[in-house]
Amino acid sequence: MKTAILSDIHGNATAIEAVLKDIDACSVDTILSLGDNIGYGPEPEKVINILRSRKIPSVTGNHELGVTHPNFLPLFNPIARKSIEMTFDMLSAASIERIKQFPNVIVKDDLRFVHGFPPESPTKYLFELSDEEIKDSLSQMVERYCFIGHTHDLEILILEKDRLTRLPLEEGIFPLDPNNKYLINSGSVGQPRDGNNQAKYLIWDSETSVLSVRYITYNISDTVKKIYKAGLPEQHALRLM
Ligand SMILES: [Fe+2]
Repeated sequence: MKTAILSDIHGNATAIEAVLKDIDACSVDTILSLGDNIGYGPEPEKVINILRSRKIPSVTGNHELGVTHPNFLPLFNPIARKSIEMTFDMLSAASIERIKQFPNVIVKDDLRFVHGFPPESPTKYLFELSDEEIKDSLSQMVERYCFIGHTHDLEILILEKDRLTRLPLEEGIFPLDPNNKYLINSGSVGQPRDGNNQAKYLIWDSETSVLSVRYITYNISDTVKKIYKAGLPEQHALRLM
């Protein structure tokens, strides 16, 4: 069973379309989104419609909370807040309703999916937590693999018995040991912050226990032009280049 894991698409429809083309060529059985499908990017409504038409479930991210729960807005910096307010105006009532239905967590067999940090926080950042706190959380987790987003970085944290190891993830194939527990920080489709501006996503193969990290080239200047045209904060465009 192959599962494609997308995170932090952030309204970048050009990126998600390129990623889905790659997924379609990889014989994937199921696709899941780790949230922050919207915000920063110029085409939030199109991204939500793509998820709906492709039947891709999503957990809720902090940007989804920003458009559905105004009391979350003060948690964002002024630029992110401005883009969330503009994103709200770009979304149809039907899409807002759909976003409200996103759960905080999805569990499938041995896999847990959450935006920020397990067991089910859409807002907690991995970098806020000590190694001891991460170990505690992984030890208590019933599932063996937890996929998170939120920081837009790629990293794998391995709990082997009592020892936690942290390794950066990059493009390639990574066989995992099913005796360990893993926290997999999945990078970002639409707004990477890891120094490489390609779209990133993962494929997990539960039969072979192999994780694939895929980097996808797409038309970044198309997204950049749309960000300027929408009048969104310029920083969101500059970050892509
Ligand atoms: Fe995000």
